[in-house]
Amino acid sequence: MAEDSRNGESTHNQLHLPKKPKLATRFISEPEIRDEFSHHQHGIARINNGSFGSCPGSVLASQRGWQRRFLQQPDYFYYNTLRNGILASRTVIKDLVNADDVDEISLVDNATTAAAIVLQQIGRRFAEGKYGKNDAVLMLHCAFQAVKKSIQAYVTRAGGAVIEVQLPFPVNSEEEIIAEFQRGLAEGRANGKKIRLAIIDHITSMPCVLIPVRELVKICRVEGVEQVFVDAAHAIGSVKVDVKEIGADFYVSNLHKWFFCPPAVAFLYCRKSSSLPDVHHPVVSHEYGNGLSIESSWIGTRDYSSQLVVPEVMEFVNRFEGGIEGIIKRNHEEVVKMGRMLVESWETNLGSPEGMCAGMIMVGLPSRLCVMSEEDSVRLRSHLREKYGVEVPIYYQGIKDGEEGGARDKDGFITGYARISHQVYNRLEDYCKLRDAINQIIEDRKICRMLLTE
Ligand SMILES: Cc1ncc(COP(=O)(O)O)c(C=O)c1O
Repeated sequence: MAEDSRNGESTHNQLHLPKKPKLATRFISEPEIRDEFSHHQHGIARINNGSFGSCPGSVLASQRGWQRRFLQQPDYFYYNTLRNGILASRTVIKDLVNADDVDEISLVDNATTAAAIVLQQIGRRFAEGKYGKNDAVLMLHCAFQAVKKSIQAYVTRAGGAVIEVQLPFPVNSEEEIIAEFQRGLAEGRANGKKIRLAIIDHITSMPCVLIPVRELVKICRVEGVEQVFVDAAHAIGSVKVDVKEIGADFYVSNLHKWFFCPPAVAFLYCRKSSSLPDVHHPVVSHEYGNGLSIESSWIGTRDYSSQLVVPEVMEFVNRFEGGIEGIIKRNHEEVVKMGRMLVESWETNLGSPEGMCAGMIMVGLPSRLCVMSEEDSVRLRSHLREKYGVEVPIYYQGIKDGEEGGARDKDGFITGYARISHQVYNRLEDYCKLRDAINQIIEDRKICRMLLTE
């Protein structure tokens, strides 16, 4: 296929940009929602949309349509369809997140790929001698593990320093986070470090907390941090995203988590500036050097269908009252309601104020469960899946010796939290199933240490 790298750019070819989203004349009904997600395994209370997202049947059908079009006539598809299709998707995202220019939006596989793109350009600066041992990358201590590994691979190995900002959990206010962030920056400064890149999560993964990202980016600017990368893997479709308002240099969000795309697709926003860094897709192909958005739209022969369905996803979300904003609002309200219902039954606490969560919230588990390690949390999660048909991630919150500030219930320190999600397919009974499963485990075992070490 290397004979011509136009990839759909022939001049006689008209660009098919997406039509303005149609407003639904009738909103999607409950049976239609059930039908859209009827491929979900029956009997599982799936309250973990956060990990892998979900894709409705109508979008899966569109994806199959794109795959068939490619297979019917691959050469025609490559030369006439692919690039325009990806541009149409990028245009939808550009409008949705309020970017200035469609060239600021690239489609990549996932947040992990985006992190590699951002961190590799930092790594190159070390390799080229532009950065030295006093140059550092700053991140939150609860950054996603894969991102931490990327920092290790591209920054630490290149000789860079890493500064970790500890965040409190359970958290009571945005001010607590801002104060810790400022402390991290001050510590770096005191140690003579120049912060070349700050990586800030928009919504941390485990534990999940909605971070005051706009304020943190502003602080970075005041403090002279060179580049800011927002890892917003969970953001689009679960909070309103305005990249101009946030003001970071880079912002990534998965489209397959909360935006109903099939796996795997994410958008990476790279703010246009006079000093636009030398960013490249980690997989180098024909388009190398033509700008990240074009490089990313051809990284070799593969299935691009998940990048092509974005306009069809917009059609799906516009069947709901208020479109994506309506979905965001209802998911937030419902997850808070479900969280409250659970803490009332378990007599525990939420991990954050209601305003500091989006479509997921941390719910304290009764201390009598005795979640005493990360292994215990994995065992409990498997037990809930296998014995009760409940899919929910469990977080272990260690209590340091003599710590007074940890959250407690009537029996002791709360060391386990369930991260519950709410998406359009969830129903009250999903959360009741979790509630009753936990109550049952406690009742059956009286004290649950035995269950967890079984
Ligand atoms: C904060 C955060 N960053 C990055 C990722 C990685 O996403 P992916 O596996 O789609 O690359 C995740 C996934 O859950 C995440 O929560």
